[in-house]
Amino acid sequence: MRAPATLVTGIGQLVTNEPAQRSAGGVERLGLVTDAAMLVSDGLVVWSGRADELPSSDAFALAASDADVVDLHGATVLPGFVDSHTHLVFGGDRSAEFEARMSGAAYTAGGIRSTMAATREATDAELTDRLDAFVTELVAQGTTTFEIKSGYGLTVADEARLLTLAARVTDETTFLGAHVVPSEFAADPDAYVDLVVGEMLDACAPLARWIDAFCEEGAFTPEQSRRILAAGAARGLGVRLHASQLAPGAGIELAVSLDAASVDHCTHLTDADVALLAGSSTVATLLPGAEFSTRQPYPDARRLIDAGVTVAIASDCNPGSSFTSSMPFCIAVAVRDMGMTPAEAVWSATAGGAAALRRTDVGHLGPGARADFVALRAPSYVHLAYRPGVPLVDGAWRAGTRAA
Ligand code: NIG
Ligand code: FE
Repeated sequence: MRAPATLVTGIGQLVTNEPAQRSAGGVERLGLVTDAAMLVSDGLVVWSGRADELPSSDAFALAASDADVVDLHGATVLPGFVDSHTHLVFGGDRSAEFEARMSGAAYTAGGIRSTMAATREATDAELTDRLDAFVTELVAQGTTTFEIKSGYGLTVADEARLLTLAARVTDETTFLGAHVVPSEFAADPDAYVDLVVGEMLDACAPLARWIDAFCEEGAFTPEQSRRILAAGAARGLGVRLHASQLAPGAGIELAVSLDAASVDHCTHLTDADVALLAGSSTVATLLPGAEFSTRQPYPDARRLIDAGVTVAIASDCNPGSSFTSSMPFCIAVAVRDMGMTPAEAVWSATAGGAAALRRTDVGHLGPGARADFVALRAPSYVHLAYRPGVPLVDGAWRAGTRAA
């Protein structure tokens, strides 16, 4: 027997991300509806709009009259957050490194190796328990789609192990064997690149949707990154790249030339980088938690948006540079310190994240979308930035089922 539909009522403000005009910017882009309702069936949004405009056709009337009703008593509802950049499978703890940084030490890519050592030592059960706890933490804060990267194993077996564990909880898995050169290859980094594009890619390509590399001083050069990403693309993986986190470099140009879905960090951009991004379909994914936790200057979201670049916000949740799983926190920082309006930040954390994963089924709440949505204990989406640090998420639904 078919499960009954769900009629969500009592929505004070609904963010659909379905603007009346496709080209709409600013607040218009959010496709706001007040006093709204939403009809959900088989995990999908069937209809959303003003409650007093529910279509009166027979099929609708029947579905709605049979439906289970969820009354949200005036809550704000928005699409679940799409966190397109996380590193959630790891062992160990780097709080001492964070404390040293807050006492003046600089962040470098080298810290990745200490997490790598702890991750290699951890059992599958330990990594799984921790990952499951992170997923609970994410969903409770309104994230309903999340990408997870490998990158703390850096052997063939360990990278495949991390991707296998990640695939239990998400379809958005990313092979990041090129996170940093492990110490055993310090004398010959190109031999490590050979391994990544050879045996490691053979083992990991079937377990991943994406390939990524950390193109930065202390990690991989643009030439090495190009080789790695091209090898992944040839195996059918989608391309994404970490670039320009610590200094400007050739990473943006590389990502755009490979039609990457996303280039992430984008903290240090030249005018030429911004122009390249604006003329491409590569999303610039900004990671406010990374600058917050490394005490670095924030990326300039305003400059990117004004140039016409599609911007996403993600958590970059990882034990080194950004140990937050909270998209509401990232939204608040992006508004306060990166020049975004609340509407832009909410769009970037939902529809922007979906674009960075080249997904059309999530990040909006129009007919046909997955019924992934969040209810806020607040009269408007603006409160996500206006009330930083306050747990406003009152419920999260994934494919129409209550998940938090
Ligand atoms: O996105 N930049 C590379 N990877 C992570 C940092 C990982 C770490 O320090 O452990 C990032 O910031
Ligand atoms: Fe990262």
